[in-house]
Amino acid sequence: MTTDDPSPVPFRVVLAGCGGITRAWLNHAAERTDLDFVGLVDLFPENAAKVQEQFGLSNARIGIDLDQMLSETRPDIVFDCTIPAAHKSIVLTALAHGCHVLGEKPLAESMADAQEMLAAAQASGKTYAVIQNRRYLDNIVRFREVIRAGQIGPLTTLNADFYLAPHFGGFRDEMEHVLLIDMAIHSFDQARYIADADPVSVYCHEWNPAGSWYAHGASAQCIFEMTNGLVFNYRGSWCAEGLQTAWACDWRAIGQKGTARWDGEDEIQVAAVVGNEGFFHETERLDPPATPPLEFTSHAGVINEFVESLKAGRLPQTVCTDNIKSLAMVHAAIESAESARKVAVEF
Ligand SMILES: NC(=O)c1ccc[n+]([C@@H]2O[C@H](COP(=O)([O-])OP(=O)(O)OC[C@H]3O[C@@H](n4cnc5c(N)ncnc54)[C@H](O)[C@@H]3O)[C@@H](O)[C@H]2O)c1
Repeated sequence: MTTDDPSPVPFRVVLAGCGGITRAWLNHAAERTDLDFVGLVDLFPENAAKVQEQFGLSNARIGIDLDQMLSETRPDIVFDCTIPAAHKSIVLTALAHGCHVLGEKPLAESMADAQEMLAAAQASGKTYAVIQNRRYLDNIVRFREVIRAGQIGPLTTLNADFYLAPHFGGFRDEMEHVLLIDMAIHSFDQARYIADADPVSVYCHEWNPAGSWYAHGASAQCIFEMTNGLVFNYRGSWCAEGLQTAWACDWRAIGQKGTARWDGEDEIQVAAVVGNEGFFHETERLDPPATPPLEFTSHAGVINEFVESLKAGRLPQTVCTDNIKSLAMVHAAIESAESARKVAVEF
């Protein structure tokens, strides 16, 4: 995959899938002068019409078939905001039309599909990247910097807790492995980002708690072995009413010299050992290193990096060749849960 032939600005964009998350994209993307929306595609044209009106995308045609829309409008970029089951066909169609693609997570519903999509992206010479918006938060950057700056010494253990109780309705209620496929991908990708580590193996227990309003797999606990001997523990549930965690998880990072915690929102705490005597060695609180605020956060951050990367002829950090490692964590966890054994994470 190369980006050595950046297309002219403004980029012509077709957006597929005009549902709930599309608004998070367009709050930023519709304001950019370097993006020209020439098409909106949805199986239900009324969904596309609503988005067109809400964001004033009067240049955009409305259609129900991506292939036809791409033939008619010949865009540079496809934004894929469809449901997970549609990502493979949307991305392969877009690449076949010579478009760069930025798509919603998860990259694919299976590793076989993901490998096929990666091969198509590499053969096309176009960039295919995935939205992992939780990398683009000021405090995840700062929390990561605590570790990179060595404040707690080499990392040995990373824990993430995710406890929420959203009542979405829609496709998630019927999905298999709903927490692992639709949500844990964010947390697993965050772990790789925070720790600068890649997955090696996983043991996962997945279940659907009594009283769950999901059909399958609303809770899971995973123990990942990562590179450098790091252990990453994930405990998650989408059926946990009361005292909820942040969407970005509640984190504890333990290094050889200390511990850092991030509540997934505003609070980062760091404590490192300063003494070498006694039952408990003395520790002191440290301020996390200052990091410059991001120009754009969350979805806007990913979209901005994607567009600027195309202009500069470089690859964005959530390019599919990297993102497949986070997806591999999801699918290895599912395999482990189904087989009740430890599974190697392969990508
Ligand atoms: N990054 C995040 O924080 C985040 C948050 C929510 C959802 N998502 C992801 O966004 C994606 C969409 O989720 P949503 O909540 O917006 O779903 P949604 O059901 O609200 O919207 C999906 C839209 O895509 C349309 N669609 C489905 N298949 C299509 C196809 N083949 N061609 C064209 N249109 C098609 C549907 O008609 C619908 O309008 C999912 O992959 C989900 O995991 C990401």
